[in-house]
Order: sequence, then C-alpha cells, then structure tokens
Amino acid sequence: MTKKIKVLVIQPIHQAGIDLLKKKSNYEFEIFEDTNSKELQSKIAQCDAISIRTAKLSEDFINKTENLKIISRHGVGYDNIDLKSSKKKNITLTITATANAVAVAEHVLFMLLNISKRKSMYDDAVKSGNFLDRNKLPKTIELWKKNILIAGFGRIGQCLIKRCHGFEMNVFVYDPFVSKEVIESFGGKKVENLEDSIEKIDAISLHVPLNDKTKNLINYDLLKNMKKNCIIINAARGGVINEFDLDRALNENLIFGAGLDVFEKEPPDQSNPLLKNQKVFLSPHTAAFTEECMIRMGKETIQNIIDFFEKKLDKSKIVKL
Ligand SMILES: NC(=O)c1ccc[n+]([C@@H]2O[C@H](COP(=O)([O-])OP(=O)(O)OC[C@H]3O[C@@H](n4cnc5c(N)ncnc54)[C@H](O)[C@@H]3O)[C@@H](O)[C@H]2O)c1
Repeated sequence: MTKKIKVLVIQPIHQAGIDLLKKKSNYEFEIFEDTNSKELQSKIAQCDAISIRTAKLSEDFINKTENLKIISRHGVGYDNIDLKSSKKKNITLTITATANAVAVAEHVLFMLLNISKRKSMYDDAVKSGNFLDRNKLPKTIELWKKNILIAGFGRIGQCLIKRCHGFEMNVFVYDPFVSKEVIESFGGKKVENLEDSIEKIDAISLHVPLNDKTKNLINYDLLKNMKKNCIIINAARGGVINEFDLDRALNENLIFGAGLDVFEKEPPDQSNPLLKNQKVFLSPHTAAFTEECMIRMGKETIQNIIDFFEKKLDKSKIVKL
C-alpha cells in the first residue's frame, strides 16, 4: 500500500476546504487547534503538508521537520512563517492569492465610511433618545472628490482603487515597485515618496507587507504633516503604523481618525490606549472574514496542497523564498 500524504491543518478552516481533502483517498489529515500546545511540534515534525492561518511557525519548528514539503498559508501575509529555515529545507510556501482581496477592500471602505460618517456618535444619539441632538452633533465628512492614498498596490490595493473610483475619489498610489504606467492604467496617480505628498491627502489605506522597510512607515514625523481631516486605515499588518505615535497624533488632533484591523501585538493588550480612543474604529483582524472569503480561502489553501503534490500548482500561488 502506498503511503498516504499527511496534512496537518493548524487552526480550523472552512468545511469546504476539509471536504476537498476528504474526497482524496491518498490523503490523511488532522485538524489541530491549540497552537500553544507542546504537541504541535511533534505533529509538525511528522507531516508532509501544513495548512496554517496566523499561528507562528518558528525556525525551531521548521528545522525539526523531517518530511514537510509544503506550507500552505490560509491568507496572503506570511510574516508568521520563518522564511530562512523554509528556504534551507526546500519547503514550498504558498498563499491563497486569489481569495481575499475583495473582502479586505470592502472592509477598508466599511471602516472609512464608519469613521467619516461618525457612526458611533450618530447611532448612539438615536438609540439613547437624543434624536433632536442632530443639529448639535459634529458634522460628518464626504468621500466625494477627496484624495485617498493607497500605500502598496498589489492585489488588495488594485481591488480598492476600483471601489474608491465608485465614490469619485482621487486616488494616489505609493508603491516603489509598481510603475507609473501600471498605476495610471488603473486611474491612479503615482506618488514617489510619502513625505512630499502627505499634506494633500484626506485618507490613507495601507496594503504593504510588514518587513524592515515598512515597519513604522506611518510615524509621528509623517503624522504631524497630515491634514487635520485625514483618516488612516490599516488592514495590512500591525507595526506598519507606529501605535504609540498614532495615539499621540489622535490626541493632539493632528488627524481625524483611524481604522485598525491589525495590531502590533495580537490580541492587543487591554492597556493599549488605542482601544479606548474614541477616534479609532477597530476590528479583530477580520477584514477577510466574510462568509464568501472564508470559503474561498479554505478551498484554496487545500487546493494549493493538492496541486503541489499533483505537480500542477500555479506559480502565482508560490512565495519566492
Ligand atoms: N487584515 C487582513 O485580514 C488581511 C488580509 C489579507 C492581507 N492582509 C495584508 O495586506 C497586505 C497586502 O496584501 P496583498 O495581497 O495586496 O499583497 P501583495 O503582495 O499583492 O501587494 C503588496 C504590495 O506592497 C508593495 N510594497 C512592498 N514594499 C513596499 C514598500 N516599502 N512601500 C510601498 N509599497 C510596498 C509591493 O510592491 C506590492 O505591490 C499583506 O501584507 C497582508 O499581510 C491583511
């Protein structure tokens, strides 16, 4: 009997993905939920493939693997995976490249609209019986003809620009790795550096990976030059905005508000002042958590593993290590 391919599903995924595995008689799998468990390391050491969400896969874990050939990320960010040891061990790393851009782009607009329309304040006024305060409440902001800056013009950035055009916003794009021609073909205007353009920007949405160059990309020096009505959305990775500087800028009324789906530390400490800041709108790293997207990600994570072993994995799903 030929040996079955062992898949370890670290952290649950949508049943639609599991069903793909169930249909394959040459696969066996286990779903492992407790990412803090000591058992995890021995499980990882024995499997041929891993599906993983946000749990950390350290160098130590990867070095101890014996048969691991593929790590399939449920999502597109892979800063939780140690790349050096994966490369050394010749492990293929894949992402769900086609699954989540729309969900994240919609989430950005959801945050932008909530903040600009002062959702909490207006909603509270009616629910608390203060309907007649409507004339006293601070006014809301329109998106129409406002300047939005998209930092990072990959899958999500390119999805977001179309939605921003739906609101007739002027879109500026900061991405040193994407040409002026490509940006213009999407109807955007290329910005060469953040510092020079920031003074005219009304909203910023971040869609860069977290790395040494993007860590603290948004810091106090930049924040202090922004427009007072500027709204910042971070649905990329915590750490791209310096949280301490952001809180300071909000408290000094340097900007209007911020929407954060991601945090430097997840879950954030309850003592993190941003959790209590009225100008901040938060979600628990759920920008891609639409029902539709969870199905797409669950399926694509597993399909990437199957395609890998059947030698038909699309190149666009593979991360260059
Ligand atoms: N909140 C969520 O649930 C969620 C979901 C999906 C993705 N994400 C995050 O969103 C980020 C973007 O995802 P994507 O699928 O669009 O990735 P992508 O790789 O398609 O695009 C990233 C873009 O960032 C650009 N970039 C890299 N370094 C840069 C720099 N220093 N300055 C400006 N631009 C730079 C790249 O050229 C690329 O075009 C990912 O890093 C991921 O971590 C978050």
